[in-house]
Amino acid sequence: MIYLKTDEEIELLRENNILVSKTLAEVGRHIKPGVTTKQLDKIAEDFIRSHGAIPSCLGYEGYPAATCISVNEQVVHGIPSDNIVIKEGDIVSVDLCTFMKGFNGDSAYTFAVGEIGDDVRQLLEVTKEALYRGTAQAKVGNRVGDISAAVQDYVESFGYGVVRELEGHGLGRKMHEGPGIPNYGLRGRGPLLKEGMVICIEPMITMGSRAVVFERDGWTVRTRDRKPAAHYEFAVAIRKDGPDVLTDFGIIENSLN
Ligand code: MF3
Ligand code: CO
Repeated sequence: MIYLKTDEEIELLRENNILVSKTLAEVGRHIKPGVTTKQLDKIAEDFIRSHGAIPSCLGYEGYPAATCISVNEQVVHGIPSDNIVIKEGDIVSVDLCTFMKGFNGDSAYTFAVGEIGDDVRQLLEVTKEALYRGTAQAKVGNRVGDISAAVQDYVESFGYGVVRELEGHGLGRKMHEGPGIPNYGLRGRGPLLKEGMVICIEPMITMGSRAVVFERDGWTVRTRDRKPAAHYEFAVAIRKDGPDVLTDFGIIENSLN
């Protein structure tokens, strides 16, 4: 279902997504060689709860943690573990959701650990730029395909792969609402974007082949060729005067400097 939100509801969604941004910043500060993804998950869960929200990934369709933390060849939905120890040169995608005041927040960011290769650095930059280009298309009168094509055309011009098995989504009282927001598609196709829609745009981009494998833990998605993948996610409200990004990457990036 697609639900259009009032201005008041959009502000509650913004509160959630600002908390998600602050939580991503808090986790990002702790991403150092030697930390486990389980420790990072605990930091996120404590932070979310101490701000009066619930980590809405926990228990979602049986998901066992507050965050999804996906390292290197893991694309999304990596389950935090005592056995996954962060090391120099890794890339770490953190995706998390909050629930408070009846609404959800949902955003993701890929962090670099120390010095990473120039090729991987470019993968992160291009994936983030693709998110910005997709977001610029999130306006009244456009269609979902305008967002999808903006993401796909940009990343494929670098030879990267667009993961097709997963997509963005509407965001509201439920974590996943309509419409689906694929990261590939054709301009002018798909559902019409209307004032009051709130959507998550979340390119999942691979350095090599776009083929992925679903691990037997029931959640983790990794690249088949085990090359790295990046994932950034914004929640965006579609307003009369254009896209209104509810996530604040500035909070995350200022805390890294
Ligand atoms: N943020 C993720 C998404 O939109 C939600 C993960 S749900 C979980 O796909 F159950 F995996 F946590
Ligand atoms: Co999402």
